[in-house]
Amino acid sequence: MSTVVSPKPQLDSLARYRSVRSRTLALCDPLTPEDMMVQSTPEASPAKWHLAHTAWFFESFVLGEFLPGYRLFNPDFPSLFNSYYLSFSAFPEKRLRSSFSRPGLAEVLRYRQHVDEAVELLLESNPAPEALRRIVLGLNHEEQHQELLLTDILNAFFVNPLRPVYLAEEQVTKVGGAEAEGLRFQAFPGGMHEIGHSGPGFCYDNELPRHRAWLEPYSLASRLVTCGEYAAFIADGGYRRHELWLSDGWDAVGRNGWQAPLYWTSDNGNWSLFTLRGEQPLDRMASAPVSHVSFFEADAYARWAGCRLATEFEWEAAAQSQPLTGNLLDSGRLRPAPLARAGQDENPVQQLIGDCWEWTASAYLGYPGYKAVAGALGEYNGKFMSGTMVLRGGSCVTPAAHIRSSYRNFFAPETRWQFSGIRLAK
Ligand SMILES: [Fe+2]
Repeated sequence: MSTVVSPKPQLDSLARYRSVRSRTLALCDPLTPEDMMVQSTPEASPAKWHLAHTAWFFESFVLGEFLPGYRLFNPDFPSLFNSYYLSFSAFPEKRLRSSFSRPGLAEVLRYRQHVDEAVELLLESNPAPEALRRIVLGLNHEEQHQELLLTDILNAFFVNPLRPVYLAEEQVTKVGGAEAEGLRFQAFPGGMHEIGHSGPGFCYDNELPRHRAWLEPYSLASRLVTCGEYAAFIADGGYRRHELWLSDGWDAVGRNGWQAPLYWTSDNGNWSLFTLRGEQPLDRMASAPVSHVSFFEADAYARWAGCRLATEFEWEAAAQSQPLTGNLLDSGRLRPAPLARAGQDENPVQQLIGDCWEWTASAYLGYPGYKAVAGALGEYNGKFMSGTMVLRGGSCVTPAAHIRSSYRNFFAPETRWQFSGIRLAK
């Protein structure tokens, strides 16, 4: 994705660097070395690759340029662990990542340690502002890969007939609110709004330039669509009624044989949902937000419900005044959670942050005046501005330090392996 534009990086100290880097390793604690080799869908990467690639980012964009005398850990790694930066080097096809049995896990961990020692040396030597900006970018990049690591493992474990459990349910913090609150709509007046990042903190280049957007009056649902509500759409023939679907969406239903969200399985009409906490019966998840739906499913559900999806500008204008709290990775739940009853009166629009990324009706495009930075880092975000839709708000596997109201995620409209859900708008 993109590069740091803010002149005042968030990096307070070595502490943030160490905290982010150690969390990536901690997320691998429940995994075996064999788990870490699996690449079960073309969108995913093996956990071992995530470990190496996030080290590669610091080596390639920070150390080589800013640490005098830096020695590459292995001269093959700059191209081996490059993901998609054409301006940097050639790189292997993505689908081959699970075939990298070498380097072994122990060597990848030594690679990370080698990079950590060098970055820490750099941080202790009063580095240039651009070096600090790149380190902050590397930490944000690593947080994105923490989320990907978990979404990729969920897919790997779902594909495995043994359906392994990433983390057992008894370790879950209890979540309040077993039943979904009634869905309400909160009206917003519209008018002229400032959209895009502001302030001194980090942002990606695709959140800039801040600019004005005109909004007509609109309403947003008070919470996300639940699994129980989505089950009613399925039961009403939602996947068999072409009139509910965009043309490309209807084609995707036929081509993929979709009958329910990804990770839903049916045993004689009894639905179960596979999660990082293992298999869950639908009735236990009925009031939790529905997740792992494509843009097409979100759009069809909204049409069935007599509503629509919000534009990313409507979403951001509503989120700007909201606290950046919600069911994020730091909650430890690792799955979307029912809405807690407390706090609904003070805050009429809930779950904007966390639980599921919310598909918007907006195509992912550059804001007016957007310009990617020169060089390889300009490939981070800008070159994906075709054929993808914007999602907002973060998910239950997004690190809390990583999300903000101006944050723009983007995926192709058929994508389902992310924690992607639905908020209705009118
Ligand atoms: Fe990456």
